[in-house]
Amino acid sequence: MPSILAVLSAGIIVKDVLAQHVPAAAQIIDQKTFNVLEFVPPPAEANDSTVFVWPGVTQESLTAKPFHIYDDEFYDVIGPNPSLTLIATSDTDPIFHEAVTWHAPKDEVFFVQNAGAPAAGTGLNKSSIIQKISLADAEKVRNGTLQAAPVTIVNTSNPQVINPNGGTNYKGNIIFAGEGQGDDITSALYVMNPEPPYNTTTLINNYFGRQFNSLNDLVVNPNNGEVYFTDTLYGFLQDFRPPPGLRNQVYRYNFHTGAIRVVADDFTLPNGITFSPDGHHAYVTDTGIALGFYGRNLSSPASVYQFDVSQDGTWGNRKTFAYVASFIPDGVHTDSVGRVYAGCGDGVHVWNPSGKLIGKIYTGTTAANFQFAGEGRMVITGQTKLFYATLAAKGAPVQ
Ligand SMILES: *[C@@H]1O[C@H](CO)[C@@H](O)[C@H](O)[C@H]1NC(C)=O
Ligand SMILES: *[C@@H]1O[C@H](CO)[C@@H](O)[C@H](O)[C@H]1NC(C)=O
Ligand SMILES: *[C@@H]1O[C@H](CO)[C@@H](O)[C@H](O)[C@H]1NC(C)=O
Ligand SMILES: *[C@@H]1O[C@H](CO)[C@@H](O)[C@H](O)[C@H]1NC(C)=O
Ligand SMILES: *[C@@H]1O[C@H](CO)[C@@H](O)[C@H](O)[C@H]1NC(C)=O
Ligand SMILES: *[C@@H]1O[C@H](CO)[C@@H](O)[C@H](O)[C@H]1NC(C)=O
Repeated sequence: MPSILAVLSAGIIVKDVLAQHVPAAAQIIDQKTFNVLEFVPPPAEANDSTVFVWPGVTQESLTAKPFHIYDDEFYDVIGPNPSLTLIATSDTDPIFHEAVTWHAPKDEVFFVQNAGAPAAGTGLNKSSIIQKISLADAEKVRNGTLQAAPVTIVNTSNPQVINPNGGTNYKGNIIFAGEGQGDDITSALYVMNPEPPYNTTTLINNYFGRQFNSLNDLVVNPNNGEVYFTDTLYGFLQDFRPPPGLRNQVYRYNFHTGAIRVVADDFTLPNGITFSPDGHHAYVTDTGIALGFYGRNLSSPASVYQFDVSQDGTWGNRKTFAYVASFIPDGVHTDSVGRVYAGCGDGVHVWNPSGKLIGKIYTGTTAANFQFAGEGRMVITGQTKLFYATLAAKGAPVQ
């Protein structure tokens, strides 16, 4: 029988060997190499929108090996041979924005255009569009048998989904959060059939007769089956919705009773929302620093908040889970073991369940959102770039 010491040192050796086996598409980030810099520029020169390139790396070296290992725990996320492939691009129109949703029966991923970016021409006069790609095509681009993944526009009508921004699976359908348009088209949640003819039903469009500001993102809690959603100001901050008539906050909706109630407030600009796979923790991103057409407020949140979810579905114990240095944490999702991922200014950041940054999937560009497409696959929306990642982790179960 080996001594405890021998077992321990064998364990340490195994770990060291693993650490040395860095996958071809990955690199270890030694955070001590930038703890002390020769010159640290002032906020007007280094801030949320600056690409951080520290001594010993270049922008090219950071993107060449895009899986950045900040902590050994990230090896379990990426596995031995992760890949990141640019599968589609657009010139200037940010058609790859948010609401990334996997429809397993057809193995397709849906996503939407940016609803309010000047380069999209959307917002007040034209709704952003819903689109989809096939994962088989994504895989063909990865293995070199296809140049780019064809993107199909999904046409909804009666009612048309207006300015969708967030999306989530629900019992075979997809529910979109629409931000609304002008004074008269209210912000709403829409249920869409993800199969032709892509027919829709409006789920809710008011709070006791009052318009939501601009609904942003939503998720279904696996324990009580209610949909939880964020209301925020991006329609107003991008000049396509009136000044707010309600507080920026998180609501929940009960499908059986029709009850809509508030579960959390005290945010600046609540944005992405998700639950841990067991439904016991909620995560909300607050993108308060990003004021749309009105610039930045760098002392506001660029943060992920964690809450405990009680048996009755109410939230408590708000905790600051993470603060992101690169732009904002926008879309947020968990994997099957409860790690937390958020789309940020330089890619997808990954934290363990206690909020330690363990790695990044580095796109070098704003990755507003992303979604797992089952086991070991992820689609990342980077405005004018659409990425496909293969890795070891799998998404939290689809509702
Ligand atoms: C942030 O830094 C960039 C340079 O990296 C600068 O152009 C921009 O004006 C700065 N933003 C703010 C709000 O100071
Ligand atoms: C929307 O339409 C109005 C009226 O046609 C026009 O003046 C305005 O420039 C348009 N706005 C955008 C963002 O295209
Ligand atoms: C590439 O991927 C597609 C889709 O999975 C598959 O059908 C095809 O056999 C693959 N081709 C090669 C050369 O690996
Ligand atoms: C949506 O409409 C466009 C233009 O008519 C058409 O090209 C496209 O195939 C339609 N999308 C789907 C999914 O049917
Ligand atoms: C789509 O239409 C079918 C057939 O009428 C209906 O059963 C289904 O509920 C509709 N789905 C949505 C999301 O409206
Ligand atoms: C910026 O945000 C902080 C914290 O949210 C707030 O106290 C401050 O008033 C804001 N500044 C401006 C100029 O809006």
